[in-house]
Amino acid sequence: MNTLGNLSKLEQTPKAIFAHYDSGEARIEVFKSGIVHLTVMRGKDEMKSFAVIDSPVDIPASSMKIGKADVELAGPGGTFNFHLENLEFSFIPKSGVNSLDLKGVQFSDTGLVAEFDIHGARNFYGLGEKTLPFNKYGTRATMWNSDFPAYTVRFDPLYESIPFLLKSDPQGTYGIFLDNTSRTTFDVCATDSDQIVYTAKEGAFELYVIPGKNPAEVVGKFSELTGKMHMPPLWALGYQQSRWSYYPEARVLELARGFRENKIPCDVIYLDIDYMNGYKCFTWSPKNFPTPKEMLDTLHGLGFKVVTIIDPGIKDEKGYDVFESGMKDSVFVKKPDGSHFTGQVWPGKCVFPDFFNEKTRKWWGSQYKFLLDYGVDGFWNDMNEPSVFDSPNKTFDLDVVHLVDEGQSVENEEQISESKTQMEKFARHVAVHNAYGMQMARATREGLERLEPNLRPLVLTRANYAGGQRYAAMWTGDNFASFAHLRLALSMFLNIGLSGQPFVGSDVGGFIGDPSPELFSRWLELGVFSPFFRTHSVINSKPREPWAFGEPYTGINRNIIDRRYELIPELYSEFKNAHDTGLPMVRPLFLNYPEDQKSYELSDEFLFGDKFLVAPVLDSGKVKRNVYLPSGNWMSFYDGKLISEGWHEFDAPLGMTPIFVKDGGVVFTQSLVQSTSDQADTLILKVFSMKRGKGSAYFDDGVTRDYRDGKYLAMDVTFGAEDKTDVLDFGLKGDYVPGYKFIAVEIPFTERIPYHDGVLETVSGNQTFAPVRDERNGFMRVTFPFSPKIKRIVLK
Ligand code: GLC
Repeated sequence: MNTLGNLSKLEQTPKAIFAHYDSGEARIEVFKSGIVHLTVMRGKDEMKSFAVIDSPVDIPASSMKIGKADVELAGPGGTFNFHLENLEFSFIPKSGVNSLDLKGVQFSDTGLVAEFDIHGARNFYGLGEKTLPFNKYGTRATMWNSDFPAYTVRFDPLYESIPFLLKSDPQGTYGIFLDNTSRTTFDVCATDSDQIVYTAKEGAFELYVIPGKNPAEVVGKFSELTGKMHMPPLWALGYQQSRWSYYPEARVLELARGFRENKIPCDVIYLDIDYMNGYKCFTWSPKNFPTPKEMLDTLHGLGFKVVTIIDPGIKDEKGYDVFESGMKDSVFVKKPDGSHFTGQVWPGKCVFPDFFNEKTRKWWGSQYKFLLDYGVDGFWNDMNEPSVFDSPNKTFDLDVVHLVDEGQSVENEEQISESKTQMEKFARHVAVHNAYGMQMARATREGLERLEPNLRPLVLTRANYAGGQRYAAMWTGDNFASFAHLRLALSMFLNIGLSGQPFVGSDVGGFIGDPSPELFSRWLELGVFSPFFRTHSVINSKPREPWAFGEPYTGINRNIIDRRYELIPELYSEFKNAHDTGLPMVRPLFLNYPEDQKSYELSDEFLFGDKFLVAPVLDSGKVKRNVYLPSGNWMSFYDGKLISEGWHEFDAPLGMTPIFVKDGGVVFTQSLVQSTSDQADTLILKVFSMKRGKGSAYFDDGVTRDYRDGKYLAMDVTFGAEDKTDVLDFGLKGDYVPGYKFIAVEIPFTERIPYHDGVLETVSGNQTFAPVRDERNGFMRVTFPFSPKIKRIVLK
């Protein structure tokens, strides 16, 4: 017996096992990667998931035993035992250690409560955007998307919610995803040292248990369930400059020229709310931006892209075309009595689109044509928790009514039209709050894809939910200019990445307050490896362009940003990996070294992909850094010096983040450009090995979706040193030809070099060169003409 009453019967279909109770239902399903899904609901009132895009598979009969009230499923990841009478469940992982026991699900007037015994597990990560400690063991977290400027360490909840927890330690790993978009809480052993207590205000209990051999497998499977990060345009990897706000036009142009004159690379300029007329979405301020088309043309000519902010609040103003058209199409959120919900945001009194239904999303998406026609390149969706200034709970009234599509998991145009035939139903805001921002980002992305079908849009969002990586990149909101926040940014990136959202960044320098020149440079250093790399600051903050602090900082900042641009081929390839595998680019050490106990404690150094280990300086006044290098040999990125595993202290003067490459890595870099729209001359392969090495890189046109039709180049390279000969073998796939003129190889300098002969072998013949020895920082560089048909380089 449980709060749903007696179990009356079990029923089995190929894809599910149903348990029927006096006042509810439970359902067990299996997904292809071995994920097991348990739904428990009162009545039959189920909401389709906003997060999950995968579908259950037939439950393999051989692995299933069904009794009168019990079900056992045995899979490669472990055994799942359900005792449906009491709504209890245990997962015994393959390793046999740290099983997970659900001690029932109780429903009451205030929502549902579920308790899990964790049997000694002590390491939990994920939970998305939280300022709680890196390891969530011993903490309490709330999921309720909230706008809280100048948040502090341990302040909770924030802008986005991802109810995914990753248990990982050397004994084993699993993930749990509790899919629910109302207010939920996670007491991760804060009250009882061996128990997780989960509550949800509304809706069903939706538990996904994700088994896996290691944390990377679990994170990968979670991304199969909820979708992969979109592949952004290449320019979105460049350095981006923002403030609240750059205006008028003349100042924006002056900013752009400032970058080019100072020879500091930059790709994107952001326009915050002051570009609009009275903060009204899809307008230009006639006073500050009288000739936006001309301004955009000039910026494009200088190699810049432009991203404008768009908030959900639409000014309630007669005659304002966006308001009028939305009223006519009835797209705005209503109260239960049928009147519109209104609230104060930047423009004053506003109405808000109901992004939960397709009609509104289409209406919203089509509004972007206005800005695209001027040449705006990307869009920044803000205030979409949603944030409302004058409402008592700072968001919509909880009883506001949304018309929710049943066909949530549509990803493309065909599916969208299919979903038209599906049902829609009403949901109160309280039940779907955490998905509002995600649905706004979705409406934006889908609209842009309809308007410019072959371009990859950049959508940035502040609020999001699990699965939101399918629609937008995110940033960590209104942080603060302090070293504590710099440290926090990294720990947030790590957990957000583990929660399925690799494309993340923080306001470089801190949004509120003014960073010291030192703090700003240190934050830029972290920015080099932040997937999303944007400086942004609050209204009336002091200038924060990379040259604003004068020398020596201008030079230091230039060198830091140059490094980002030199690393672009490698970074882009890691973005592609994240897009393919769901694994974050910025990752905690334990993702690659799960057997290393130490790696579970470190949130002040990180891996970028498989090759790089980065240890940023996160304290004021420090010019040395203690770094832990996990198993194997490493090489300093700067001079190729070989370093063994373990703890070491390294010099880290301002501008020089300690960066290491795993011995055996070949890293793809390129010669300097001022923006990604410039073609770099030389592709530079840096070999971090004395004997054997390998690496791979991915190239495409950076803007279109043609890569899906084979217009890409995947380059694999293996390096081998024999006697006095060094050989690089290339494997190429795809028919895209990058525009490089030269290919250079940099190899750590040793006595056995210099080379006398260099041979570039291509499918159409060999060419011999007398290599030009160019010794820089311990590396010897040899340059050849670039050939898209390259097979091998032999150096003797
Ligand atoms: C919010 C955003 C911030 C933006 C400001 C004005 O505070 O988080 O990034 O600058 O609104 O639009």
